Amino acid sequence: MKKIVIVDFGGQYSHLIARRIRDLGIYSEIVNPENFKIIEDIIGIIFSGGPRSVNVENSYKINIDLEKNTIPILGICFGHQLLAKMVDGEIESGENKEYGLTSVTCVNENSKLLQNLDSKQKVWMSHGDHVSKLPNDFTITASSNSIEIAAYESKKYFGFQFHPEVTHTENGLKMLDNFIKLCTKERNWNAKNFKQQLISEIQEQVKDRKLVLLLSGGVDSLVALELCIQAIGNENVYSIHIDTGFMRKDESKEIMEYFRELNFKNIKIIKAEKLYLDKLKVVTEPEEKRKIIGKLFVDIANEELAKLSKSEEFLLVQGTIYPDTIESGSTDKAALIKTHHNRVSEIQKMIDEGKIIEPIKELYKDEVRKLGEELGLPFNLVHRQPFPGPGLAIRVICSNKIESKDDFWKEEAFMNEILSEFRMMGKILPIKSVGVQGDFRTYHHPAVVWFKGNESKSWEKLIECSSKVINKLKTVNRIVFSLNPIENLKLDRLFLEKDNLDELREVDAYFRDKTDMIKEIWQMPVVQLPLKDSEDNMCYVIRPVCSFDAMSASIYEMDFELLNEIFLEARSRFKIGHILYDVTSKPPGTIEWE
Ligand code: XMP
Repeated sequence: MKKIVIVDFGGQYSHLIARRIRDLGIYSEIVNPENFKIIEDIIGIIFSGGPRSVNVENSYKINIDLEKNTIPILGICFGHQLLAKMVDGEIESGENKEYGLTSVTCVNENSKLLQNLDSKQKVWMSHGDHVSKLPNDFTITASSNSIEIAAYESKKYFGFQFHPEVTHTENGLKMLDNFIKLCTKERNWNAKNFKQQLISEIQEQVKDRKLVLLLSGGVDSLVALELCIQAIGNENVYSIHIDTGFMRKDESKEIMEYFRELNFKNIKIIKAEKLYLDKLKVVTEPEEKRKIIGKLFVDIANEELAKLSKSEEFLLVQGTIYPDTIESGSTDKAALIKTHHNRVSEIQKMIDEGKIIEPIKELYKDEVRKLGEELGLPFNLVHRQPFPGPGLAIRVICSNKIESKDDFWKEEAFMNEILSEFRMMGKILPIKSVGVQGDFRTYHHPAVVWFKGNESKSWEKLIECSSKVINKLKTVNRIVFSLNPIENLKLDRLFLEKDNLDELREVDAYFRDKTDMIKEIWQMPVVQLPLKDSEDNMCYVIRPVCSFDAMSASIYEMDFELLNEIFLEARSRFKIGHILYDVTSKPPGTIEWE
């Protein structure tokens, strides 16, 4: 398939560039600089941003002969500087740093990438170095107040010091669209085309073997299953649903029902709750939980594979999607945020041995949904809220302590100084959750905040104070909001045990039911905390987010009256303590807590 390749120099926005290119109708892929080589299908190349300076020794070398090359290349930020350096331009480090929204002036009306745009453009900058000199066959196409060369062009090579991929660059999409026009006249990346392409790929990979698929009940494995069935036929695909004990209320039962309705054959449910709970009895560390869960999936799948006919060869299918591989640190530029259940070492080994196929691993969530519709799956199934493979296990924040050794008084005093500006107060909680900042994993404390006295509540203030506190306090990576002041919260032991999982299942079902009509909520994890109020009741967090593809997420701003109502009802129905509302976007918080 024709593609534009994004050479990833470790920039924060490399995925966003890939997304934008796909949205514009061209398949795109991210590659490491070390692995980059020109192959026939590449019609365009983008050098991404990155944290390094091109003037530092060992800055990246790219395997490409720019004299002979005929493929258009666009450099963005670091990529813009690197490309300039590769053609013998000069880069200056120092004074003229620009971060955030900036205005540039388009200074050449014959520019190919800035054509049909007003001469003043709002763009997003984030740089220390800048290009100071270019060879004669290059033209400067935009300048800012601080730097003359904010954009340049030659016949085949283009550079933007700013980021066209972020929405703050008002006409960024048009600029990228102009680049694509120079690469190709055709746009062929859409659900229809990739359906046929993926079906052919499966047929080619599988040949006369059969497939076994682990069905979580989520959208990704469902779409992967339907794709495999359409590729090699119902009779050649076996699916296994493992009831881990971490499923939502009635989920395993519903999965069987809707698969029966869809006429899927060869489905087996394996009840493995006891096994999972036994293996996870005293485990509290989130990555350890994930690894045990992932390994058990593999062990059970292997047992089932061994029971199937000896005369036939089977491959295991996984519904892995693109963000799963990125967050699991699959490229050496990407940091490990968390080990997705389908990226544990046992699975990696099977992948290396050629025993696994992952037909949708290049797709983002919204593309999986489009593909599902294209395959004819019912709309309501394809648009269900995403649910992680390890299920509720990652939504119980486990603890083996009843007392915290952390002493936050200094940080708490500083936080309350910041909060007083918003007429709010807060406390740092003695627990930790995973987050993602500057493309790296964090594992820090959440802080709970509330409004003082009868100060009226405002989402604007909550969002602003959330980012201010997280930016200023290293200890805090997440903010939750309480409708009431929080006096007493005690740390307590909490493990993955049936009783508390049953309680979480009920509370989760209640909240999902109450918010089901709010279509803007893309996903709403309900999290159980090892914190108890003065009456010894367990506390919970709800995390409603708006997202598109799970790569980034903003919080859903629920009506405060509705919030009050559903919180009061929840506390009267279940014997639970404080209910907190997560007000952290992604980044810096991940969607799940772990
Ligand atoms: P985070 O928490 O990283 O989650 O912001 C992004 C999306 O991925 C889901 N998720 C998973 N899905 N296996 C999955 O299939 C996993 O191990 C896993 N962990 C997180 C999460 O629910 C959210 O939609």
